[in-house]
Amino acid sequence: MAPVNLSGRSFLTLLDFTPEEILFLIDSSARFKALKRARTPHRWLEGLDVALVFEKTSTRTRSSFEVAAADLGMGSTTLDPGSSQMGAKESVEDTARVLGRIFDGICYRGFAQATVEKMAEVSGVPVWNALTDDFHPTQMIADFLTVREAFGRLQGLKLVFMGDARNNVANSLMVASAKLGLDYVACGPAALAPAAGLVKTCRAIASETGSSIELTEDVAAATREADVIYTDIWLSMGEPAELWGERIRLLEPYRVTSEVMGNASADAIFLHCLPSFHDRETKVGEEIYERFGLTEMEVADEVFRGPRSRVFDEAENRMHSIKAVMYETLR
Ligand code: CP
Ligand code: NVA
Repeated sequence: MAPVNLSGRSFLTLLDFTPEEILFLIDSSARFKALKRARTPHRWLEGLDVALVFEKTSTRTRSSFEVAAADLGMGSTTLDPGSSQMGAKESVEDTARVLGRIFDGICYRGFAQATVEKMAEVSGVPVWNALTDDFHPTQMIADFLTVREAFGRLQGLKLVFMGDARNNVANSLMVASAKLGLDYVACGPAALAPAAGLVKTCRAIASETGSSIELTEDVAAATREADVIYTDIWLSMGEPAELWGERIRLLEPYRVTSEVMGNASADAIFLHCLPSFHDRETKVGEEIYERFGLTEMEVADEVFRGPRSRVFDEAENRMHSIKAVMYETLR
């Protein structure tokens, strides 16, 4: 098999990548993690510059791109909503063409997947999807690195997503699981099931990698013998706050509780892309408490803080994996 070479490629969805290419990025992330831990300098892209366009808010992803760019010796310029002409006075296409003349790569977080695809088509430089309404591919490299750190392997593990199984993170987990040979279970209400077309695509991929894709509303059956239990917030960025009541009604039965974790395999881990509503220590969490009386939403506080939770390893791995994605596509 030819060695993997991702130089010049954009990173928009894992559907565009082979299992070997995804594993290559996970391996590269592990190498960068070891270098960072050893404080070994790796300014291997000195002189390059990247644009970081964030049309939605971010803590982990933005920090990861900025720190990773600095560690690689690159300059980075972050453009927030309101701080650029994009959208209001200048089209996505014109913006991408301009940024492609100034920068060596572009990170984009926003709404439609079509926007990031357009940027990749016209900018002439690698474009990295930092989250759209449909997918969150950089999150996956970190997540599966975290899973591999916990179990030493990926193939054959059972990963269960609990909750809003048609959101960007769940879609990406389904694609990544199919590609990497994990059995994936989307456990949530039928009203929030992933799109039939994407399920069909993932089932076709899973049949080649020897894994499976299952959709169910049955929490006990879904979580039995699970190796990884994953959840995400019940209302994603860009969705109207008026939906909170309906989402809570639909998704409360799918909260990850100690009972759910107890039903999983003895060494199961808990993952969450974060941010998470597991207590009342946020503005939104407090509003939800006042309106609906809930002290926690998608995950019980004791699970989030408990011994099976790997959420902060996962968050750290965002930086190492984003560094790998930038390095391997820009080298
Ligand atoms: N998980 C994640 O993408 O976090 P941020 O929204 O903080 O970037
Ligand atoms: N589904 C969440 C993920 C945040 C990282 C959102 O889109 O808001």
